[in-house]
Amino acid sequence: MITLPDAFKKFKSSLELNEKERTNASKRQKEVRGHLEDAYDIADSFLTGSYARWTKTKPLKDVDIFFVLGDGEAHYRNKHPDVILTDFHKTLEDVYGRDAVKKQGRSVGVDFGVVVDSDDNTDFRVVSVDAVPAFVDGDNYVIPNNSNGKWMGTNPKIHADKAVAAHQAFSNEWKGLVRMVKYWNQNERHDEKPIKPSFLIEVMAMECLHGGWGGSHDREIQFFFATLRDRIHEDWPDPAGLGSPVSDRMDSAMIARAQRILDTANKDIAHAIDLGRKGKNGDALKAWRVFFGPKFPRS
Ligand SMILES: Nc1ncnc2c1ncn2[C@@H]1O[C@H](COP(=O)(O)OP(=O)(O)OP(=O)(O)O)[C@@H](O)[C@H]1O
Ligand SMILES: [Mg+2]
Repeated sequence: MITLPDAFKKFKSSLELNEKERTNASKRQKEVRGHLEDAYDIADSFLTGSYARWTKTKPLKDVDIFFVLGDGEAHYRNKHPDVILTDFHKTLEDVYGRDAVKKQGRSVGVDFGVVVDSDDNTDFRVVSVDAVPAFVDGDNYVIPNNSNGKWMGTNPKIHADKAVAAHQAFSNEWKGLVRMVKYWNQNERHDEKPIKPSFLIEVMAMECLHGGWGGSHDREIQFFFATLRDRIHEDWPDPAGLGSPVSDRMDSAMIARAQRILDTANKDIAHAIDLGRKGKNGDALKAWRVFFGPKFPRS
């Protein structure tokens, strides 16, 4: 039977991006860019968000692609950002069909109809992407923010640099932990994600996972969940200081729900660690698998 430390290592690597997935993501990026270029002046496009920082969890859903609009589209910048989102939606709906395309607050989602199996595998394919219209704004970008009807500043490079700094300060275990906690967050046992957006988990981890890696995944998970519970009600600004607070979707009812779920999670973690300490390895593996979901290995 696999040991608990090895199970966590295996779990960590199963949530890592591999070559086939990256090939598929860049193929989809080119494909969507091609369709958008038929209708718009696209100056640049790149894969970004958690995907580019290696903090995206599996299955690969909602991979962010920034589509930087060129001078020919400058007029959109003076309009309500819903205008470009509506137009992107229309363009992509014509290609992918009504059921596959949805307009969101900051992007247009395109679903490729990839089947996710019961072990959360997708045969190395990206399930969906989020096409984000963007304009260059000095050293930064602006992207739509439909919740307040304004264009919002963002800077993927600052987010990426902060993630790298946190990762290095944590013996290169930080990104793996972030992916694990994001995987827990989307466990279907919750019906709906307790923490939204999942970027909030990463932002909290930037501040809360410090003091260095203590040497075991289960203990770090325990510590981080305790902090998530204690601090989920706080305001969490954009780490780059440009966009709206990352915590602005968590209203008081969502915070109360997240706190309840995190209380249970903390009990479940203590129980799983206890089983391991008592030498009940098989039971501990089972408990962690229920806790995280099917990508936590049984053997
Ligand atoms: N409030 C914000 N202010 C500034 N930039 C933001 C804000 N929210 C998100 N971003 C940027 O946009 C990117 C994409 O947002 P998204 O919500 O998809 O997060 P994500 O980190 O990609 O997480 P997920 O794994 O859930 O896709 C983020 O990674 C971050 O760089
Ligand atoms: Mg994303």
